[in-house]
Amino acid sequence: MRTIVAGNWKMNTDRASAEALVSSVVKEAATFGNDVQVIIAPPFPFLAKAVEQCAGTSIVVAAQDCHQAEKGAYTGEVSAAMLKSIGVGACIVGHSERRQYFGESDALIGEKVAALLAHGITPIFCCGERKDERESGAHFDVVTEQMKGALGRFSKPELERIIIAYEPVWAIGTGLTASTEQAQEMHAHIRMLLHTHGASVSENVPVLYGGSCNPTNAAGLFAQADVNGGLIGGASLVAEQFLELIRIAGSASA
Ligand code: PGA
Repeated sequence: MRTIVAGNWKMNTDRASAEALVSSVVKEAATFGNDVQVIIAPPFPFLAKAVEQCAGTSIVVAAQDCHQAEKGAYTGEVSAAMLKSIGVGACIVGHSERRQYFGESDALIGEKVAALLAHGITPIFCCGERKDERESGAHFDVVTEQMKGALGRFSKPELERIIIAYEPVWAIGTGLTASTEQAQEMHAHIRMLLHTHGASVSENVPVLYGGSCNPTNAAGLFAQADVNGGLIGGASLVAEQFLELIRIAGSASA
């Protein structure tokens, strides 16, 4: 399985810095190697330009969210069809910041996944426990519930088109990272949940780690048997760090 390095820029950058960041990554694209898939997720206003900049490379441009409806009176929202029409290839859904600040439920996230699949866009489904949930030992149950609640409705072929990102909430943007053991045991748990839908699902669905992943800790995380790469926030905003993470992913998959 290819190692995936996905950059989630969140509500950062402006037009000039987004274009500069994409262009730094594009310049190195020829060196990425076939075993690494690079995905970048700029904010909505910069997506179309990023798609243009990445044309002819293997870099996939992703959105950070979408609305579940096909179209209609949903002021301010963006549909999967719109994303498809500008060449967006993937879309993050269920990020913990969406769950926390916008009250997104697993059922709603499942609807977003369905909308994306209907338009041939790869959903990057995020799950992960909060600090209190880990401290009380509920982390496996929390992730099980999130997976079942959002993804339980999908068929085997549908599930095989999804990317999963395990992002412990306590590690996102905090500088705290899950240890390699904590990451591996949760990834193995997710793999086991996927296995209940068939061996091919657990074999084919990439499971990424996210949460303060950076060039210092990535090699250990990416080397874990069930970690297929990373969803990178802060470090994806610094071209040198993001490119270094891509190089580390290349060595991990070699
Ligand atoms: P971080 O963010 O790398 O800044 O912790 C990861 C994410 O939220 O996707």
